Amino acid sequence: MSIRFRLLFSLTSVVIVSVTLFMLAAYLLSVAATGDYRSVRSFYTIHYSLHPLSEEEESIFLDLKYLAKHDPAKLTDPALLQDYDFQLKMVQAGLLVRKNDDLLYATPNMKEADFARALPAYEMGNYRIRETMNVGSRFFAYAKFDFYFDAAQTEKGSIFVIRERSPFAEVVRKMLPVLVGLFALIVLLTGIVLYRYVTRKIVLPLEGLRKSAERIKEGDLTEELRATTKDEVGQLIASFEDMRRRLQESIRLQLQYEDNRKGLLSNISHDLRTPITTIKGYAEGIRDGVARTPEKLEQYANAIHTRASDMERMVEELFYYSKLDLNKEPFTFEDTDIAALVRGFVDEHAIDFERAGIEIAWEPLPEQLVIVRADREKLKRVVRNLLGNSIKFMVNEPKRIAVGIRVDEPHGQVTVMIADNGPGIKAEALPLVFDRFYRADDSRTPGTGGSGLGLAIAKQIVEGHGGTIAARSEEGQGTSIYFTLPILQKRR
Ligand SMILES: Nc1ncnc2c1ncn2[C@@H]1O[C@H](COP(=O)(O)OP(=O)(O)O)[C@@H](O)[C@H]1O
Ligand SMILES: [Mg+2]
Repeated sequence: MSIRFRLLFSLTSVVIVSVTLFMLAAYLLSVAATGDYRSVRSFYTIHYSLHPLSEEEESIFLDLKYLAKHDPAKLTDPALLQDYDFQLKMVQAGLLVRKNDDLLYATPNMKEADFARALPAYEMGNYRIRETMNVGSRFFAYAKFDFYFDAAQTEKGSIFVIRERSPFAEVVRKMLPVLVGLFALIVLLTGIVLYRYVTRKIVLPLEGLRKSAERIKEGDLTEELRATTKDEVGQLIASFEDMRRRLQESIRLQLQYEDNRKGLLSNISHDLRTPITTIKGYAEGIRDGVARTPEKLEQYANAIHTRASDMERMVEELFYYSKLDLNKEPFTFEDTDIAALVRGFVDEHAIDFERAGIEIAWEPLPEQLVIVRADREKLKRVVRNLLGNSIKFMVNEPKRIAVGIRVDEPHGQVTVMIADNGPGIKAEALPLVFDRFYRADDSRTPGTGGSGLGLAIAKQIVEGHGGTIAARSEEGQGTSIYFTLPILQKRR
């Protein structure tokens, strides 16, 4: 059974049950009030017994009653009676005057034979002035007054101000279809309104959810679902959307890992093949006696050694990178003054820079100690990789590397900058330099050789410290690499 049908079914039954209960309650209430199981009908007659006449009719009745009491003789005057009858006709009522057993006067349309018989008996005490009566199939409400025409009290008379009402059965016959129709209409309208409301708020969103689940099943995770309400259905959709987004993200990551793995394999095989081919070539040279002189032999041996060392370094870097990548390389943090660390490293290698003809230009260092939580060896490795790149790619004269350490007070960070005046990095390559194995094309030439892992390792390490790393470069002008670490504290 679909929700739509259930809904329609339950709404209809609720309305029907409530209407039935309502009518039953009304019936029981009237029985309780009157003590009569036919009470609905008696309510109807009692109502007219209490108020048979309208106000105008009542006042005419009182006039006639006054005459009956004080001047009954006048009630035999047809002209006067006609006058009163006329007045009553104006308000759609009639007049009857009875003398003994004869009708002295009757409004024309009440002159039937059974009318005379239906009239109540004399009751000189006038206890029941207001009443109803049935004449054939017609139903009347009236006010009556009994009196004597003569002082000797022999001539009995009655005046009736009388008005026809629809009999109960007819009222019911007329009203019932209208009422039933009305109820049915209310049922229908309520049903339609609620049905539409619930359909819009529940069924349609669920339908959307189902379609989305179907799409996901078929592997399409792109379509976004939006919850329009905050109710249970809205929450369900929001959770579903959250799940979809995570699934999409995890699939994206998985694909990326897969891509990475493929790239890694092809890079490794490519980068290892080159030195291996070279080594093989030199080894063959030695074996085939191409290197005949001791100098040649030494040259070949050195070349083999260099390539083997390159390979060793590359394998080491690869191993190190993959350990960082898999979080298998533990960090040992110590509170460290970042300026002292950078300065110390540069000073240690001062002779190497001098030999390479490179001038190190220091920007003013912070005046106080800037303490960061650092794995010193790893941070030194970052600085070495950055300086190493600057040196490796350096072409312009004078060779100059600027080193700066700046405190970013509001963000509680310190930024280390290493900037060279080398060839720079092409704008399109700039976002890629931190990717593992990425090397801008020209640097893939031997001579500058490298694994393309230097910056990737630097990035892993800096991020392991809760920091960020970025590069800025302009082709032909030089490259600046910035890495930023959170400051632990500052000391004078
Ligand atoms: N200081 C620099 N000047 C110019 N290019 C640079 C510089 N540093 C990095 N690069 C570019 O970024 C690439 C990636 O650097 P890196 O990860 O250290 O790999 P590698 O040094 O092994 O080539 C380099 O191949 C080079 O193209
Ligand atoms: Mg490098």
